[in-house]
Formats: sequence, structure tokens, C-alpha cells
Amino acid sequence: MSTPVPDLRGRTVIITGGARGIGAEAGRVAVESGARVVLTDVREEEGRAAAEGLGRHARFLRHDVTSEGDWDAVVAFATATFGRVDGLVNNAGISGGSHRLEEQTPEAFRRVLDIDLTGVFLGMRAVIPAMRENGGGSVVNVSSAAGLMGLARTAGYGAAKWGVRGLTKLGAVELGADRIRVNSVHPGMIHTPMTAHVGIERGEGMYPDTPMGRVGEPLEIARAVAFLLSDAASYVTGAELAVDGGWTSGPTLRPIEENP
Ligand code: NAI
Repeated sequence: MSTPVPDLRGRTVIITGGARGIGAEAGRVAVESGARVVLTDVREEEGRAAAEGLGRHARFLRHDVTSEGDWDAVVAFATATFGRVDGLVNNAGISGGSHRLEEQTPEAFRRVLDIDLTGVFLGMRAVIPAMRENGGGSVVNVSSAAGLMGLARTAGYGAAKWGVRGLTKLGAVELGADRIRVNSVHPGMIHTPMTAHVGIERGEGMYPDTPMGRVGEPLEIARAVAFLLSDAASYVTGAELAVDGGWTSGPTLRPIEENP
């Protein structure tokens, strides 16, 4: 067998929100790269099917990322099943809907923060001892383009994703000496079940808001995640990797009317 690129052979990776969308694809690419994977999610049926589709190197465990107890169970399960924990992809998230700041209820705001930010914190906290024991590890936090710019109508989501970016930086600083790398990935508009209903269309030229003119595919995020999990990124920590077709680099120029 030729060496997979990136090479994740011998690594065990926990991927949250792995039942569908970006998480499921990250699981597929990780297994293809040689990893053993624990997919977790609150969607049991889809999660189990996703893991079964990946064969004997993947397992599913029901897991709510807001529950400390569930996190302990996930780390114990990964260790008991595959012997170690080398990687964590904090991918689970909800969009919280589209609301202007003054329209978002405090309850909805807190709910998004609980899943999208506190869930990431709990995950990092839970895996640190196991990674330290291995002499290192890699945490990939899935933030968003909404964590790199002020994206209208994302109140709680945007705040959470900026928080994830900050938590990533301080994790990188605190854990560097333990050889635990922590990085964030910032997807642009990606075609997944989360975004399918907002009416985005796939294909060249169908998304002019982005310099590359199209929405992204889960595979394009999954490849970036696999790179950061692997030794190909051995000196990369505290980085924020935008995988967004250039969306956060700046606005695309719309034609300006010439003065007559
Ligand atoms: P998705 O909705 O297809 O998948 C998210 C998964 O997270 C679902 O399977 C859901 O059940 C799970 N989840 C939700 N709450 C959970 C909880 N409390 N505990 C455990 N699992 C939970 O969404 P998608 O698009 O695959 O998003 C994955 C990540 O990528 C999210 O963090 C999202 O914010 C981020 N992202 C997505 C973008 C997109 O355009 N699709 C853009 C930027 C960021």
C-alpha cells in the first residue's frame, strides 16, 4: 500500500458532529488517510450509518458536546476501543438561524454559545490528559468565516465562532510545550445539510459573493482538517486556516457605473 497523504496511520481521532456534512466527510478522509475514527453526534441513526459506512476503523458514539459527562465517556470509549487519542476535531455546531442582533432572543444566543463555543472548550479540556500521555496531539477547531469577519445576522453564531478562534490561540500557547497543536479552520459557504435550505446553488459562478465564485464542498474542508491533524502540519499551531474561496480576503468588486 502506498503512503496516504496526509498520513494519519496509527492515529485515533475523535470527530464531533460526525453524523453528516463536514464532520462525516472529515471522518471519511481521516479513515482514508489511515486513521481510526470515533464519530460522535446527537443524531444517532445518521451517525451510526456514517460510521458503519467507513468500516472497521470507525465507530459511532452518541454524544452531546454540551455535556461534560458525555465528553468523559467519549474519551474513555476512544481509548478503550483504539488504545489512544491523538486528534480531536471540534466540528459539531448549529447555526442558530438568521436574526438581526436585536431580534435574537437571549435564550437562542446562549444556546448557540453553549454548543458552538462551550462545546469546543469542553472538548479541548477532555482530551488534554490523553494527548499529554501520548506525548502530543492535534486539535482542530471548526470555526467559520463568521469568526474572521462580522457577518450580518449571525449574532450568537458569529460571537461563538470568534470565541472558537480565540480559544484556539490560547490553547496553542498553553499546550505548545506539551506538543499539542491547536488550530482553527474557517469554512466559507459550504454545501451541507446546515446550508442546503438557504438556497445556495453549487457550481462555477453560482456564488458571486466569493472571489472564486462558487460555494465549497465538504471534501475541501475535510482535506484541510486532515492536513492539520497530520505531521505534515508539525510546526503549525495557533493558525487560522480560511477555506473559503477567498470570501474573507475582501469584497468582490461589483461593476461600478462609469460617469457619463
Ligand atoms: P451540519 O448541520 O450538516 O452538521 C453539524 C452536526 O453537528 C449535525 O450532525 C448535528 O447533529 C451536530 N450537532 C449539533 N448540535 C450538537 C450537539 N449539541 N452535540 C453533538 N453534535 C451536535 O453542519 P455542517 O455544515 O456540516 O457544519 C459543521 C461545522 O462547520 C459547524 O461547526 C459549522 O458551524 C461549521 N461551518 C459550516 C459552514 C457551512 O457553510 N456549512 C460554514 C462555516 C462553518
